[in-house]
Amino acid sequence: MLNWDDPLGLNTKPATQVEEEKTVHPQTVEQTLDALNQPEPTTAPLADSAGAPVLGQPPVRVEDKRVINGLTDVNQLAPFRYPWAWEFFLNANKNHWTPLDINMAQDVQDYQHKLTTEERHVYENVLSYLTTSDILAMRNIGLAVMEKMTAPELQIYQARQVFEEAMHTWTYQHCIETIGLDQSEIYNRYRVVPEINQKIQIANRRLNSVLRPDIDLNDRDELNNFVLSYLFFAGVFEGCWFYNGFSPIFSLQRRGLMKGTAEQFQYIMRDEVLHASFGIRVVKQIILENDVTLDPKDIRDMWDECEAAEVDYANYILRDPILGYSAEDHINQFRFVANRRARQLNLDEPFPGVECTLTWLDEQANIRKEKNFFETRVTEYQTGGGLSWD
Ligand SMILES: [Fe+2]
Ligand SMILES: [Fe+2]
Repeated sequence: MLNWDDPLGLNTKPATQVEEEKTVHPQTVEQTLDALNQPEPTTAPLADSAGAPVLGQPPVRVEDKRVINGLTDVNQLAPFRYPWAWEFFLNANKNHWTPLDINMAQDVQDYQHKLTTEERHVYENVLSYLTTSDILAMRNIGLAVMEKMTAPELQIYQARQVFEEAMHTWTYQHCIETIGLDQSEIYNRYRVVPEINQKIQIANRRLNSVLRPDIDLNDRDELNNFVLSYLFFAGVFEGCWFYNGFSPIFSLQRRGLMKGTAEQFQYIMRDEVLHASFGIRVVKQIILENDVTLDPKDIRDMWDECEAAEVDYANYILRDPILGYSAEDHINQFRFVANRRARQLNLDEPFPGVECTLTWLDEQANIRKEKNFFETRVTEYQTGGGLSWD
């Protein structure tokens, strides 16, 4: 089964992970240098201030590359300073699908004839929240984050991520259109429903704070804010809110309802697990390379604000209970997953002692191999080498 903490199996020894990262993967760097027979170090800049190559300068040295504020030529992929980023890119390309590949016919029947009013309320609001969120996620990575990266192997995965966020938006649109929901009403709902608006506003505030052309990440305050914003998007927005956002639909799927939508969400969730894991790794690397010290109060405030918003959201979408899934389940699962993300970030657990409420979620979210999958699809979802989520 997919390891949600470490989807690519890159950190098989979590206890030593921090030490490894402090030395910036010395084995990988040394091996890469040996293989490429790099010249003697030089202090000369390898690119001008705009990142353009300078004629006559020595080749890019792996040890000069930086996640941000680097001066190496951003148009040159190798040598890899961050080979794990390339691994994320290769793996992301194994999860390729389009929403048209999944049969939604039964979902139309389920929505019209089987879902209760309360379940329709859940379904519509989950879609409404997610579709607005995925556009925000796309804008964050594509417009605010990518331009600040100074190692192309990071940007290449993020370019794939931008594409995937657009695919996710298409997927929600496909569900909304196929089920026959009122598009203008669904898409406008985040402006009307305070409990959805609140979560969107939190993300918008973070995004707007790093989406300015005058940001200088050599400024400690700006750098600190950028790290907090990226940490929020990877650790909370994608790592908790998206992750948790799909679970009400998976609970319907468990009861044999809205299975097409749930299958779409399984594909999206695979992407989002990688997005969160990649973003968390980048954030940790920025912290190490730049000696960033996050204020514990800023982190605590982030968790508290996001928890309060999730509580309100859960109590809205599940104001009337549905079978097999409650607001309390949703809220506790947010806290449980938040602890998981905090551990990945080497932060204290924000909600210590919380147990997993949805013990079925990880299993339900996985695309099971025994399923007669290709009957309902026009293309294979996987190309290239073997995709192992076990
Ligand atoms: Fe997404
Ligand atoms: Fe994402």
